[in-house]
Amino acid sequence: MATQASTRAAGDLAHGSVSACGARHVAIIMDGNGRWAKKRLLPRFAGHKAGVEAVRRTARAAREMGLECLTLYAFSSENWKRPASEIADLMGLLRRFIEADLDELAAEDVQLRVIGNYQALEPALVALIDDAVARTAANGGPILAIALNYGSQDEMVRAVQRIAAQAAAGSIAPDAIDASDVDAALDTADLPPLDLLIRTSGEQRLSNFLLWQAAYAELYFTDTLWPDFDGTALRQALDAFRTRDRRYGGL
Ligand code: FPP
Repeated sequence: MATQASTRAAGDLAHGSVSACGARHVAIIMDGNGRWAKKRLLPRFAGHKAGVEAVRRTARAAREMGLECLTLYAFSSENWKRPASEIADLMGLLRRFIEADLDELAAEDVQLRVIGNYQALEPALVALIDDAVARTAANGGPILAIALNYGSQDEMVRAVQRIAAQAAAGSIAPDAIDASDVDAALDTADLPPLDLLIRTSGEQRLSNFLLWQAAYAELYFTDTLWPDFDGTALRQALDAFRTRDRRYGGL
């Protein structure tokens, strides 16, 4: 199994080169929906609803810019601490997003993916997600990955359990386990290496998102609240990314 660096090299060859925007994989911590609503004296739901519009705008812009993969943090494994009504609102918005947008995503050749322990969501939503992922699985276009019930530590624990099971079964020697085996056991195994991690709303932390994958990703923090994010904001982030000198520990 290839390492992230060799996966990158192989991927670059397979796709000719990185996209015109300089990155293959961008991930976003979509933060600030509640503050956006509060500023307008609206309920938090209005912020999340406007957040879905920002998802649509940003996903379209990412496709137009030639990004291979956009990963969005929609619901974390810690978001269960929110009031039940807000959790239900978020799940309802997600369901309606899939129902309303799947045709367009499929027509645009998008591959819809989900990372995180989404099987723990309610069975009807899990079935909807599985159908949507299966319907777009053979597409050859960009990947839209939604992180649902996702937590990086949970993902790593599940990866360790998988590898430990392989070791217990004798299919891998503990001494032979390397970073590429961990890469392969993560939910992101089939996604390109992460280039850029964006967080909106002025907060500057990773909040248990893609901690392993972000080892050499560039970080970009913007004060823009997620419902105000759009193609222009994405372009600004990618412009900043292009100025970064990525050395991967070298010179
Ligand atoms: C953080 O804002 C945002 C979330 C926890 C949910 C993000 C979800 C969406 C944008 C909608 C559903 C997504 C898809 C893919 C259809 P916050 O509520 O923590 O904001 P605050 O920090 O200002 O209170």
